[in-house]
Amino acid sequence: MTASEPAPPQVVVHPDTERMARATAARLITSLVEAQTARGEASVVLTGGRNGNALLAALAQAPARDGVDWSRVDLWWGDERFLPDGDPDRNHTQARRAFLDAVPLDPARVHPMPASDGPHGDDVEAAAGAYAAELAAAAERGGHPGDRVPPFDVLLLGLGPDTHVASLFPDHPAVREDGRTVVGVRNAPKPPPTRISLTLPALRTAREVWLLAAGEDKAEAAATALAATDPLRTPAAGARGRSRTLWILDEAAAAGLPASARD
Ligand code: 6PG
Repeated sequence: MTASEPAPPQVVVHPDTERMARATAARLITSLVEAQTARGEASVVLTGGRNGNALLAALAQAPARDGVDWSRVDLWWGDERFLPDGDPDRNHTQARRAFLDAVPLDPARVHPMPASDGPHGDDVEAAAGAYAAELAAAAERGGHPGDRVPPFDVLLLGLGPDTHVASLFPDHPAVREDGRTVVGVRNAPKPPPTRISLTLPALRTAREVWLLAAGEDKAEAAATALAATDPLRTPAAGARGRSRTLWILDEAAAAGLPASARD
């Protein structure tokens, strides 16, 4: 593997969904504490979906939670459903309920994606452009002028049964985007149909990418994505971190993997 190539996936399997969420919360706490020790702050990109929210709920309950200085954590989202602010289906709303209100975050460092009743109205492309600008401004402020996104220590993704990640769906225009960092997504096969998503190039800037998949309904997608090479057909195959790509599964989601695929 050359220095420029992203890290190949490592697979971690937990006995069940509950223990997967708790273990991943502990792993995330360690990663954030290490990032803050190294550079005084930490940055994580959240995902929506059952596994993403289960992780946040476990994080809120984790005994070591307060080892993280939450006032120095930047929270971003990998995707969002383009709905009015506070809508129960928004990833931001669900994250608030699961976790955000449980720890002393600095509101200025929590970066939800725009809502459909915000300053851009229902113009999802304008909203996506505004989030791209917010990312670029954070990179500039953080001493990374010219970068289009700030450093992400850990970028979390759920795995869709069709191998989508964030709101990048197989053979959808958004998964082909390789210029912009954030795009609007229309006619998404997973409701709601209109979304905002980081693009694959943006996801791949993260130091570490963690994909979360639990349940037998993810077994086929996990086996397919771990063997696949074409991210246009299998978006999860394109989700790679610069220094680490971690697939975090429970036994049910790992059922389709060959023994050789499990670390
Ligand atoms: C969303 C998510 C999406 C999700 C996967 C897995 O906005 O819907 O970001 O990418 O993570 O669809 O969802 P589950 O964990 O609920 O299966």
